[in-house]
Order: sequence, then structure tokens, then C-alpha cells
Amino acid sequence: MSVWRLDGKTALVTGGSRGIGRAIAEELAGFGARVVVVARTPAGVDEAVAGIAGARGVAADVTTAEGRAAIMAAVAAEPLHVLVHNAGGNVRGPLASYDDATIERMIALNLTSPLLLSRDLHPRLRAASGASVVHVGSVAGHVALPTGVAYASAKAGLAQAARTLALEWARDGIRVNTVAPWYTRTPLVEPVLADPAKLAAILARTPLGRIAEPREVATAVAFLALPASSYITGQALAVDGGMTIQGLAQP
Ligand SMILES: NC(=O)c1ccc[n+]([C@@H]2O[C@H](COP(=O)([O-])OP(=O)(O)OC[C@H]3O[C@@H](n4cnc5c(N)ncnc54)[C@H](OP(=O)(O)O)[C@@H]3O)[C@@H](O)[C@H]2O)c1
Repeated sequence: MSVWRLDGKTALVTGGSRGIGRAIAEELAGFGARVVVVARTPAGVDEAVAGIAGARGVAADVTTAEGRAAIMAAVAAEPLHVLVHNAGGNVRGPLASYDDATIERMIALNLTSPLLLSRDLHPRLRAASGASVVHVGSVAGHVALPTGVAYASAKAGLAQAARTLALEWARDGIRVNTVAPWYTRTPLVEPVLADPAKLAAILARTPLGRIAEPREVATAVAFLALPASSYITGQALAVDGGMTIQGLAQP
């Protein structure tokens, strides 16, 4: 079979109902995968599944034990070839403004849930003989940004989790990598992009001079999910228009 195809393979995408996750689900389906879309809102899951050939959905919250049990049940009887931890979110603010619950929620959503779900799905990934796990991190986990320390710390942890698990699971034939986006046009960052001063500051900091489209992140995730990347594991790939390599902006 072509290393550029996922025919007959099962791929689970958390947060697959909109934004980057929706684009990832569509991209993986385009390569022939049977996609399982996970998000909390049933109507969003139904709408996404209706638009993706061969897809099915699970309405579940990845931060709850019940939600993760529903996800496990949906793929209990089959090998899982591709697992994309994409569900994530941020509450922006300085540390002093956060209450306990907000910090714990940011860590739970962006770091603890992917770890718990990966642990639970490990037997299904091992059964796939050549599975790929992709973490959707953020450049906020690699360089310092005024984005909120709880989110940034969780995303940094998620990238390190990919390296550590890549080592731990290599002999199980499971690869684990991270894709770290910079600003990408989705509902999550609409409020930031709608502010002209913030948008101008972001564009000035981006060598390619524009915001990413969700599909431009999804194609990088798909590459790491495909057998085409079979010797790549434990890596973090920034999809950032050159933001993290810019030492000094062009005058
Ligand atoms: N957009 C950017 O500029 C950007 C930049 C860097 C990194 N990222 C990362 O990329 C990922 C996707 O971001 P996005 O911009 O596409 O976000 P988005 O537009 O807000 O979409 C988030 C998706 O995750 C689902 N979701 C949220 N909480 C969930 C939960 N607890 N359990 C299950 N599903 C949940 C949402 O559906 P429900 O609300 O129905 O659950 C939705 O499908 C995130 O990890 C984010 O941190 C985004």
C-alpha cells in the first residue's frame, strides 16, 4: 500500500468538530482513514460527521472519566492506527488573575486528558502495528508569549510527553510527535484576531506575514500520521510561518 494512504485505518481526532480538529478529520478521511470525531457538543459532532465520508462520532468530554470511557467504548473492538490529541483551549490572563479551578482546568484539558487517554488507548494503538499519535501543541509551549502561563505550561508538557512516550512506545511500533501551531484562523482565536492592534502585532511577528488556515496545520498532522513519516518520532514540528526562527525582523 502507498505510504501516502491510510485506507482501512482508524483515526480518532479529539476536538474534531470545528477549527483545526475539523480540518484534521477531513484531511485524514481524504487519505482514506475511517475517522472517529470526538467533541462535547452532540450537534457539532453530528454536523462534522455528516460532512466527512466514512466518519462516526462520539459526543464526549475528554476531561471526564465518563467521557474517556465513551471514547474507549467507541474503539474497543479494533486497532487504533492514528490518535490525534487536538482538543484544547485557553483562558488568557496573568497568573494573578487565575483562580484555582481555571489553572486546574487548563492543565486538565491540555495535558492530563491526552495522557490519560493515551494510557487507556495504548492496547488499541499497539494492536495497530505501526500506530501514530500526534499531539496538537502550540508555539506557546516552546517560546514565551503573553498567552497565559497555565496553557503555555500544559502545551510545553504535551511536547515533552510526546518525546518521553516516543521512547517508551518505540518498541511497540507507536510513534508520537507534536505539531505546534502559531495563530490559526479558528473560533478559539477569533476574539484576538478581531482586535486590529493585536492582529497587527501578530502579523509583524510572522515572517510569512499572514495567519495560518486550519488546513495548513491539518496537512502537517496528516504527514505525521501517514506511513510516509515512519522513521520520525519524538519530534515537535512548528507550523508557524517562521515565527519561532525569526531572530530579528526584516527592516
Ligand atoms: N487556533 C490557534 O491559533 C491555535 C494556535 C496554537 C495551538 N492551537 C491548538 O490547536 C487545538 C485546536 O484549536 P482550535 O483553534 O481549532 O480550537 P476551537 O476552534 O476552539 O475548537 C476546539 C475543538 O475542541 C473541542 N473541545 C473543546 N473542549 C473539549 C473537551 N473538553 N472535550 C472534547 N472536545 C473538546 C471543541 O468542541 P466542543 O466545544 O463541542 O467540545 C472543538 O471541536 C487546541 O489544542 C489549541 O490549543 C490553536
